[in-house]
Amino acid sequence: MSRRLLIAANWKMNPPPQGALQSGSPYFSSGDPEVVVFPTFIDLQNCIRSGQLIVGAQCGRPEQNGAFTGDVSIKLLKEFGCSYVLCGHSERRENHGETDEYVAEQVAAALEVGLHPIVCIGETWDDRKKKKEKSKVKYQLSVLPLESDVTIAYEPVWAISGGDPDKPAATAEDAQQMHSFIRSLLPKDRQGPTRILYGGSMKPENARELLSQEDIDGGLIGGASLDPKKFGEIVKIAEELGLKQQL
Ligand code: PGA
Repeated sequence: MSRRLLIAANWKMNPPPQGALQSGSPYFSSGDPEVVVFPTFIDLQNCIRSGQLIVGAQCGRPEQNGAFTGDVSIKLLKEFGCSYVLCGHSERRENHGETDEYVAEQVAAALEVGLHPIVCIGETWDDRKKKKEKSKVKYQLSVLPLESDVTIAYEPVWAISGGDPDKPAATAEDAQQMHSFIRSLLPKDRQGPTRILYGGSMKPENARELLSQEDIDGGLIGGASLDPKKFGEIVKIAEELGLKQQL
């Protein structure tokens, strides 16, 4: 058994990159790795209609309906044709006050309707300075239904580019250490199959080293995913690396 690499394009609050929906685009999933795009709510429909993209939503509300102005329920996202949903991205935690417990509710709601959750966890720079990175992710994981089929994205908040293409990623060594720690916290029977993605300034220059690490099973890519050429290079690297053997 092996883990299939997953390369995810988090377009954040940006339109789909030029040509993303046309045939031959690097955002189409045509085998290994699995490629998934996360457009804004407004662009979900076009991306799903293309019929060739695997599409996820950047967030969703756990309640099925009700008085939640401006929100979209996870159930509706599933009915609309999404395959994935991001839960607890650090920008949602920071800008919308999403707590660990609320993120866990999103994950449970996604599992209930059959939408695959990618849960984002990771420490801030302040946590790292205080050597609290492990206790931070440990708590973030402790509230999640990890016995289920969830994908985890380890995104150290301090490495997220925020639009700065020169921001350095975590070193491959630091990232591998955290990924292996995260895997060790999963229930025994989920340690082999669970994919743990890395996110935070992944780009063509560092993708091979990061994706070659034993416990890094793909990338959640923001800035570099907006450039089809750069994104295509990362997909190509993942293609060359192939599958990850389970422990
Ligand atoms: P970045 O974003 O690749 O621009 O650092 C990653 C993310 O926020 O998911």
